[in-house]
Amino acid sequence: MDNKQVTKSERGGWGSHFGFLMAAIGSAVGLGNIWGFPYKMGANGGSAFLLVYLVLVVLCGMCVMLGELAIGRKTGLGPVGAYKALCAKHTWLGYIGVLCGFLIVSFYSVLGGIVLRYCVGYIVSMFGGDGWAGQGTGFFGYFLYQGGEMILYFAIFMALNVVIVMGGIKGGIEKFSTIAMPALFVMLLGIIVYILCQPGALEGYKFMFTPDFTYLKDNFFTVVTRAAGQMFFSLSLGMGCMIGYGSYLSKKSNLQKSAVTIVISDTVIALMAGCAVLPAVAAFADQSYGKGPGLLFSTMLTVFDNMGGFLGNFIGFLFFFLVLLAAVTSSISLLEVCTTFVVDKRLSKGKPGNRKIVTTIAAVIAFVIGIPVTLDALGSGNAAIMFPGEILGLEKVPMFFDCWLDLYDGIAEGILMPVGALVMTFLIGWVYKTKMVKDECECEGNKFFAFKFFDICFKVVTPIIMAIVLYGQIADFF
Ligand code: TRP
Repeated sequence: MDNKQVTKSERGGWGSHFGFLMAAIGSAVGLGNIWGFPYKMGANGGSAFLLVYLVLVVLCGMCVMLGELAIGRKTGLGPVGAYKALCAKHTWLGYIGVLCGFLIVSFYSVLGGIVLRYCVGYIVSMFGGDGWAGQGTGFFGYFLYQGGEMILYFAIFMALNVVIVMGGIKGGIEKFSTIAMPALFVMLLGIIVYILCQPGALEGYKFMFTPDFTYLKDNFFTVVTRAAGQMFFSLSLGMGCMIGYGSYLSKKSNLQKSAVTIVISDTVIALMAGCAVLPAVAAFADQSYGKGPGLLFSTMLTVFDNMGGFLGNFIGFLFFFLVLLAAVTSSISLLEVCTTFVVDKRLSKGKPGNRKIVTTIAAVIAFVIGIPVTLDALGSGNAAIMFPGEILGLEKVPMFFDCWLDLYDGIAEGILMPVGALVMTFLIGWVYKTKMVKDECECEGNKFFAFKFFDICFKVVTPIIMAIVLYGQIADFF
């Protein structure tokens, strides 16, 4: 780069390798694991979905994770600066990442706001009040139409993110994740054990782990597309989030080991979330697994309601508080992509980074983008504003257009992220060459394992699977 060389101290960096791992695992573990994974597994054939998911994690997730971390550390810059440094012609890939960052953090924080409202609801109920506005287990359907309250909780959740990201890499993101992630793990473990002891819970495990391949045979394409989309989202891949986190990493850190640790941890926690949610649904909510997105926000309400009394409210609070921690450690990584982009740019021009102001402005932009998501009642109809399909006057509304959240999610997760991952792995395999990743991993004496495997994944396997996913998305659209 012809720009001014930016020193590490101006940008900041992780305080310890453990801190980095907690932040990166924190980014990966989020609503995608606790909300998305159990319901997608529930709706896509249980064990068959799990099997495909695991295969994809090994064949794609691992190498994309490693690729992003390596590009980040090699260049020491966020996605836009990193691609520009590698080859100016590829800078657009970085901009796609920043665009995804804004789109995802906006709807993600609306969901985070709802989770926050549930925590408040359980606290109020625990102390004898009615946290559910007289709606009982029907609260979710009611809350969706409370636009003002949705915006309020969305704003509080966003403000929480701003405070953390303002604190910088070490003093904000790392500090929060190092406390939140172990706490989350312990709470999740406690809930799993408690649920396991309830009569009827084992049905949920049977549903998860009994192989049923007829479903897979009949729906192979759909299962692969859904599992791959879920995997990318869950691992925070395809939009440069891990490029950013990698850029703050010291040259001594073992990248390959880190990539494997992050991927395994995320997968284990998704499975653990499945082991908390699905057996709970089996024991307390008549095995209604296939409820789609409502699984977390309405079925789980029924679960804790049927548990009854103070205990039900207490476990309910613990569960949603754990979801809240998971959501915050993820959304800060998305807001960080938007922040890093501007801070890097300012530093390279010799200006002060102004992280605090930049973070605030980025959050305000994301907040404005997110407002439609709070007002269309997730496409349930008769809401304060119309959803995209309604505005376009479509007779048959494809998934993309059935609410603002699905539109943002469809553009980011459905199109931009698979394109990002496809082009990135292709570039690593054929243009920058896998050796670049190997050299970066080995730069301070760490050994690189399984070069052939990663080389084939970068060159062929991941690009092909990404192309299938894109095709599946586009076919879904029509
Ligand atoms: N992985 C997070 C989850 O599972 C969400 C997330 C954080 C994300 N950063 C991301 C998704 C970057 C895609 C890209 O909830």
